[in-house]
Amino acid sequence: MDTARGPAVGSLSLYFLDSAIIGAGVGNPFEEETGEAGRALDPARNPFRPGMGRVPPDFGGREPQLRRAKVVVDQLVHGHTPEFVLYRGVRGVGKTALLAYVRDQARRRGLQTLHVEADREDERLDATLQTLLRGLSDLLAAAGAEVVARLTTVSTTAQGPRLRSQGGPAATLEAMVDDVARLAEATGNGVLLTVDEVHEGGDLLLKPLLRSAHRVAQDGQPLGVLLSGLPTAAESLFDEGQTYTERLARVDLGLLERDGTAEAIRRPFARDAGLGVDELVVDTVHDGAGGYPWFVQLWGEALWDLATDPARLELPVAREAGERVHLRIEDFYLSRWRRVPSGRAALLVTALADAGGDAAIGDLLDRLEITHQAASPARRALLDLGLCWAPGRGRLAFSVPGFADWLQRTRPELP
Ligand SMILES: Nc1ncnc2c1ncn2[C@@H]1O[C@H](COP(=O)(O)OP(=O)(O)OP(=O)(O)O)[C@@H](O)[C@H]1O
Ligand SMILES: [Mg+2]
Repeated sequence: MDTARGPAVGSLSLYFLDSAIIGAGVGNPFEEETGEAGRALDPARNPFRPGMGRVPPDFGGREPQLRRAKVVVDQLVHGHTPEFVLYRGVRGVGKTALLAYVRDQARRRGLQTLHVEADREDERLDATLQTLLRGLSDLLAAAGAEVVARLTTVSTTAQGPRLRSQGGPAATLEAMVDDVARLAEATGNGVLLTVDEVHEGGDLLLKPLLRSAHRVAQDGQPLGVLLSGLPTAAESLFDEGQTYTERLARVDLGLLERDGTAEAIRRPFARDAGLGVDELVVDTVHDGAGGYPWFVQLWGEALWDLATDPARLELPVAREAGERVHLRIEDFYLSRWRRVPSGRAALLVTALADAGGDAAIGDLLDRLEITHQAASPARRALLDLGLCWAPGRGRLAFSVPGFADWLQRTRPELP
């Protein structure tokens, strides 16, 4: 290319155009020294964590529930057997995040942790048992050959530890929990076992787990068990009045009160950015999120990205954040609606929306002119999917705030 005689004027103007763009800082954010014009906080340092199972920067409104878990952890640290705890709540209230946080705290205090997520498809508990076995490697190494040789469900081979079945899946799981407790005692190392989504495992998982954990407690071995699941989890076992449910405390996780929302929003801003949040902003978040923890994280994330003043967060930013959050929440409602099974379940959901999102089932069925018996599978499906829950006997309600309004407003096509 002939640079000497080339189109000098054209190249020059291109050069000026480029430098004008770079000078204005609108071309390439990687070449900018500062962040987006007008924004006070770095989005890369955004502490909020909207998303399944993600530990929030601060658990708003969960002091009693966290205190319960701390007692469990502290007792294990001292070599005692804690009471077992079942955290229950609708989808998105923070069950998985709470268990993850407590496991982390337990490890920091020198405890061993094991974690299982129950799965409906795991009909023979194979995945559960293998997950437990994998989690035992440190304990097996610490216990020494003599102790390991006395375990009933684990045999050591040249390829590593292998599972020894004790007949059926339930018997093997029960014996496995005994082995975990034995290892905990032999190594002087408290063990915290967490099981998430226990409603998925049903009685197949819960009965052997609780039976053996009950025995462990009687023997005083340092094994703690924290479970979590939807509001109906383990209800049948409590109804049956099984003795092994005696040591299982039920702790509910509900929607956040205004104070809880305020904590969840204010603390991260104060700690990570030295920024104060106006009362009106907290009001806006509380109204917009309806106390639903997942939505509170969405709000926090948007407020952080959009903040304009490095010292205070005020109403105009909350308004802008509201627009952003609104779009995310609408997508979320739509995806929930798409998960509703077609047929009677969809009719029930529509009737529930028309009734404001919380109603007596009898009233809904009258309206739809279907019998309890005919509606029962649909009702169960909605509960199992976590789309609805039963706030009291004979009642049905949506598990997410704002869903009824959204359905009424948008009237989406039947799934
Ligand atoms: N106390 C809290 N305050 C603020 N945000 C929270 C709180 N607890 C959880 N969150 C946030 O809520 C969201 C949902 O949490 P998580 O996935 O643990 O809920 P879940 O109950 O396990 O839901 P699912 O039943 O769908 O599994 C996450 O973004 C998490 O960071
Ligand atoms: Mg979860």
